[in-house]
Amino acid sequence: MNDTATVFSPIRWRDGGLKLLDQTRLPREETWLDCDRPEDVAAAIYRLSVRGAPAIGVTAAYGLVVGLNTLGEGQTLEERFDEVAELLGATRPTAVNLRWALEHGRKVFKRTEGLPDDKRIAALLAWAHETHAADIAANQKMGAHGATLFAAGDKVLTHCNTGALATAGYGTALGVIHASHDEGKVSQVWVDETRPLLQGARLTAWELERLEIPYKVVTDSSCGALMARGLVDRVVVGADRIAANGDAANKIGTYTVAVLANRHNVPFYVAAPLSTIDLETPTGNEIPIEERSADEVREVFGTVVAPENAPAANFAFDVTPNELIAAIITDAGVLEPPYTESIARAFLEQGEPAAPS
Ligand code: MRU
Repeated sequence: MNDTATVFSPIRWRDGGLKLLDQTRLPREETWLDCDRPEDVAAAIYRLSVRGAPAIGVTAAYGLVVGLNTLGEGQTLEERFDEVAELLGATRPTAVNLRWALEHGRKVFKRTEGLPDDKRIAALLAWAHETHAADIAANQKMGAHGATLFAAGDKVLTHCNTGALATAGYGTALGVIHASHDEGKVSQVWVDETRPLLQGARLTAWELERLEIPYKVVTDSSCGALMARGLVDRVVVGADRIAANGDAANKIGTYTVAVLANRHNVPFYVAAPLSTIDLETPTGNEIPIEERSADEVREVFGTVVAPENAPAANFAFDVTPNELIAAIITDAGVLEPPYTESIARAFLEQGEPAAPS
């Protein structure tokens, strides 16, 4: 079950360097990017060649190693670490896994003080590999926990892409769908196309195709009509950050799905590892929401569809308030409302804080 070597991952460490599957080119082309400099890693995260909160975190962990391997003239390893952590940390503000990885990486790096440079870099690389494997294991656990909520023949709706591509491997919400399908509990997946960048139509469909799970891509505006017709039994989505009270930030459009699910009594689940829960953020109001270029809204793959220079707004994420969430599926089990209590308990039971304190 935890054989990470057999799980597909969009992130590879090969021949001493970082390779990322360029998700901007999927599903047409499977191209792997070589990230030789930390600037390559930061650019890949920013332009969504690698995306999804857990995948961003694991990429940043390797990105720190890439940074230390390209030390500037006369620079100390400490100076380089700070420079690279700042560069990577500035790429995407909502995904808390990015901050989590950089802060954990710093702790690991500090523990190696006094060792020769090569030993310090080796220790950081070993930690990045552990982080990679731990994310896959967490997702597999989440899949098993989440499948207990599903019933035979369920039709499930999901938004954005939360599969292997969005993580170190296996996936969060799509991992739950995968595990539930393996148990014979999913008859079909409704895949929201997920405008503006179509992570659903391009990436989730690509993954479900490979997994041979029946699916249909629908426009984002279809979900209300599908629910009104009784065609959706459950919704499961991922999260970029979950506040301490259970409010969850995820791809723009998720909140709309949650409101409609509530209207139609369809259980709405969020699946995310504990590393996506941010105890330092009390409620969804404090979650920073990334705003991206208006061009992504005006255009569809380089073709301008609105009047040129039409004013446009592009909030990449929205926040679903905790009262709309029937359960939060984590690697530590299924959490139920009231979330302030169940989240605090899950962290306590885990022994050490999963989020940086
Ligand atoms: O902008 P993206 O593609 O990085 O947004 C990704 C999402 O919103 C995912 O649902 C979230 O990161 C969870 S991925 C397991």
